Amino acid sequence: MATIFLFLLLSTIFTAEAQSGQSSIEPGSFLTVTNTTTTNSSWLSPSGLYAFGFHKQGNGYAIGIFVEGIPQKIVVFWTANRDDPPVPADARLTFTSDGQLVLQSAQQGTNTSITNSPGAATSASMLDSGNFVLYNSDNSTIWQSFDHPTDTLLPSQHLSVQKVLNSSVSDSNHSTGRFLLLMQLDGYLAMYPVGTPYTIDYGYWNYETPGQGNNVRLNLDDNGHLYLENGNGTAGTVDIHLGDNSKKGLLYLLRIDADGILRLYSHSMDQNGNWSIIWSQPDDKCAPKCICGLNAYCVKTNQSFGCNCLPGFALINKSEMNSGCERNFTAESCKPSMTYTMEAVNNTIWEDKNISVLSSSTQEACKAACLQDCNCDAAQFKQGECKKQSLPLRFGRLLESGPNVEFIKVSISTTPTTARNVPKKSKKEVLIISVSLVALAIVLVISGVVMYRYRVWACIKESFQFIQKKKESNHGNIVLSEEVSLRSFTYAELEKVTDNFKEELGRGAFGIVYKGAIGDGKKLIAVKRLDKLLAEREREFQTEMKVIGRTHHKNLVQLLGYCHDGPNRLLVYEYMSNGSLADILFTPEKQPCWDEQMEIARNIAKGILYLHEECVPQIIHCDIKPQNILMDENMCAKISDFGLSKLLKPDESKTFTDIRGTRGYVAPEWHRKMSVTVKVDVYSFGIVLLEIICRRKSVDSDVAEEEAILEEWAYHCFECGELGKLVNEEEVDKKQLERITKVALWCIQYEPSLRPSMKKVLQMLEGTVDIPDPPSRSIPSSVWGKD
Ligand SMILES: *[C@@H]1O[C@H](CO)[C@@H](O)[C@H](O)[C@H]1NC(C)=O
Ligand SMILES: *[C@@H]1O[C@H](CO)[C@@H](O)[C@H](O)[C@H]1NC(C)=O
Ligand SMILES: *[C@@H]1O[C@H](CO)[C@@H](O)[C@H](O)[C@H]1NC(C)=O
Ligand SMILES: *[C@@H]1O[C@H](CO)[C@@H](O)[C@H](O)[C@H]1NC(C)=O
Ligand SMILES: *[C@@H]1O[C@H](CO)[C@@H](O)[C@H](O)[C@H]1NC(C)=O
Ligand SMILES: *[C@@H]1O[C@H](CO)[C@@H](O)[C@H](O)[C@H]1NC(C)=O
Ligand SMILES: *[C@@H]1O[C@H](CO)[C@@H](O)[C@H](O)[C@H]1NC(C)=O
Ligand SMILES: *[C@@H]1O[C@H](CO)[C@@H](O)[C@H](O)[C@H]1NC(C)=O
Ligand SMILES: *[C@@H]1O[C@H](CO)[C@@H](O)[C@H](O)[C@H]1NC(C)=O
Ligand SMILES: *[C@@H]1O[C@H](CO)[C@@H](O)[C@H](O)[C@H]1NC(C)=O
Ligand SMILES: *[C@@H]1O[C@H](CO)[C@@H](O)[C@H](O)[C@H]1NC(C)=O
Ligand SMILES: *[C@@H]1O[C@H](CO)[C@@H](O)[C@H](O)[C@H]1NC(C)=O
Repeated sequence: MATIFLFLLLSTIFTAEAQSGQSSIEPGSFLTVTNTTTTNSSWLSPSGLYAFGFHKQGNGYAIGIFVEGIPQKIVVFWTANRDDPPVPADARLTFTSDGQLVLQSAQQGTNTSITNSPGAATSASMLDSGNFVLYNSDNSTIWQSFDHPTDTLLPSQHLSVQKVLNSSVSDSNHSTGRFLLLMQLDGYLAMYPVGTPYTIDYGYWNYETPGQGNNVRLNLDDNGHLYLENGNGTAGTVDIHLGDNSKKGLLYLLRIDADGILRLYSHSMDQNGNWSIIWSQPDDKCAPKCICGLNAYCVKTNQSFGCNCLPGFALINKSEMNSGCERNFTAESCKPSMTYTMEAVNNTIWEDKNISVLSSSTQEACKAACLQDCNCDAAQFKQGECKKQSLPLRFGRLLESGPNVEFIKVSISTTPTTARNVPKKSKKEVLIISVSLVALAIVLVISGVVMYRYRVWACIKESFQFIQKKKESNHGNIVLSEEVSLRSFTYAELEKVTDNFKEELGRGAFGIVYKGAIGDGKKLIAVKRLDKLLAEREREFQTEMKVIGRTHHKNLVQLLGYCHDGPNRLLVYEYMSNGSLADILFTPEKQPCWDEQMEIARNIAKGILYLHEECVPQIIHCDIKPQNILMDENMCAKISDFGLSKLLKPDESKTFTDIRGTRGYVAPEWHRKMSVTVKVDVYSFGIVLLEIICRRKSVDSDVAEEEAILEEWAYHCFECGELGKLVNEEEVDKKQLERITKVALWCIQYEPSLRPSMKKVLQMLEGTVDIPDPPSRSIPSSVWGKD
């Protein structure tokens, strides 16, 4: 009844304006853009209100469905293959005799299916509801546009569970834009920026449906009633916007607009009327995350919003407000802090993604901490907490007030200006300078092109590139996040640089390490080929890449790149020319002197401290031992293999000890079913420290029986006041020997809570705090019986 009424109403209103449509479209029919005298460019619905066919898109045309019968045309609410380039004016849409809808352009050389329908259609119809339908010979629907919404929902159309509406780029460009509305499985209706995970951190609006089950759908009625209901019809409805029965017969449409706002529009009865917004969410125009692109923050204005760049940044495209911002200077990765300063922006909030968090800090300390850390690009200070961040910063918006201060690292121009007494340059110098200028120009052009390519998807740029790469190479479903700034290698490349994995450097817990060289053999690298077990753990691999890729510390071996190629997973590290600590400690000719030993101990402690306290999330190394500590050409100790250990979850501790077989370094709680904390690394460090002091292995069967287990021997010597025995009565600083031994004994306390934090350990090693005597050892006998 209502439909007939609506139909009559619409017919009376709109027929004056539009030609009347046809009810059934038969195979053999076609549409063209230009031959409008001989053919149509669209198929109209019976009332003439809606049309299916060509509409203008950019410099060409696209196939879509739009409102034809009213003056304020054209409202396009569905576009076929919306991300394809527009077709030129020679295009022709054919309903082929074998029942397909095919868009052809000779000029473009394309032949595209519009519907990808599952079977042959025998007829088609543009209905008065705005739905375009294909039928088969049984008159049953085999395809309908209502099942494939783009950015708009019409009355009687549903957004079913797990379906999305993707916004358009703009009102005139109907390609996939930057925001989406998702009907979630958990019954929430929610909006996210395109390309972000569907989690609370990225969502910017949601509507809850308590108790509605897992089959909720979004409905719009022909009186403007917008509501959620269980598609099984088992529960009541949850109203989002109440309808008005006196306004039946108006045109309604719900659309997620290019600015990320969801709006319900109506069109008045009056033909001269306008579209008006009767409901919209969210209210705050700055709420859609990433509305301003990268490194920019959104500022509310009375009617709308604006985008501001961070200090020292400029818009990537000056004529596009939301193109995001880039540095207006070239940041060289690790220049001395003198060339940078920190500029403040008050009261902005950003995505909560931090390199590290320093608590109980001051504004000045926060600035200084960032200036000293070459990985830190910005720091957020709020109520004594300092969060170090790296670029790009996302989701920025200005708050009305608040305690947040964002500090941005910007360069202080140190290049001397030309005016002052510049000595005359020789021809050679001039030549060099012009060559460099040309090179610089080339770099600028290339980066310009790159920036341009990234601009559109600024918010999500790299993750998208990864998705595309993935599609091309048909890997598993991996999406490496943009946080990883590592070089990606192909397997073939690594095969080449390692000379087909010729020279083995060592074997770790997770694979074999090979020597290689890149950059015409100039830079040596270590390539670790992860074994199968690990390669299968796709998610962990990614997580670890993210974590490791962001670590940067002089006492950690740096990860340079990775290979994720077919089933192969390899990691590329900097090469350590002096081998491992085990190598130098346990080879008599290579043994370092006492002072060097102490330096090595401090460096290891600094590296672990970084993993424990400067990294977010915290990294537990889990496998601190001399074999995993490598020495660079200056004999500076660096921890390797960090983070990979975290691949093993606590509930796999059994597997863990099996795999390692490095008994002697493993903290006792691994054997009890206790949760594992950073204190397991402290324990292992304690053992390594004893090995450094004594320059011997923690378990050595070649020495007298009472000395075989180093930790027991060390306790014995400490309690008897015979520490000299530990160093074979060599001449060393007695005081220092005592304090370092005490540190080690504290570290290997049986009870994790008794062990000091790494911060405390470092202070103790450096002699800046007093060290009490470690408690005498009481070992529950049961623990040492098994294993
Ligand atoms: C154009 O469309 C109208 C109404 O839909 C129809 O009557 C007419 O035959 C079409 N013209 C051609 C050339 O197909
Ligand atoms: C529409 O926007 C997309 C993404 O920004 C762009 O690639 C495409 O060229 C645009 N199309 C037209 C017709 O302007
Ligand atoms: C347009 O019509 C002319 C003559 O009727 C015909 O030659 C031409 O092929 C048509 N163009 C298209 C794209 O159908
Ligand atoms: C396009 O499709 C039509 C009908 O399916 C076919 O006859 C034609 O050869 C195709 N052209 C190209 C270039 O693939
Ligand atoms: C399909 O519908 C058309 C028109 O509504 C009708 O003429 C035809 O008999 C129907 N065919 C079947 C198989 O139901
Ligand atoms: C929406 O956009 C995302 C990202 O481009 C895409 O993966 C998804 O398939 C799109 N969904 C629809 C219904 O167009
Ligand atoms: C609703 O139906 C879906 C699929 O038909 C089913 O998976 C789901 O369990 C049902 N939910 C309720 C609450 O009945
Ligand atoms: C429709 O909008 C136009 C321009 O925005 C305005 O001039 C006109 O008065 C409006 N018409 C009605 C009926 O509101
Ligand atoms: C914004 O609105 C306020 C009050 O509504 C008004 O005082 C102010 O002038 C407006 N500012 C602009 C820039 O329009
Ligand atoms: C970069 O931007 C800052 C302001 O944000 C400005 O003071 C500085 O002069 C700009 N530098 C260059 C090289 O444009
Ligand atoms: C900047 O944006 C404008 C407007 O969208 C566009 O026409 C122009 O091509 C863009 N320029 C660059 C360099 O991307
Ligand atoms: C930030 O706020 C402080 C006071 O809290 C003020 O002194 C400072 O000038 C503000 N800085 C800027 C850039 O607005």
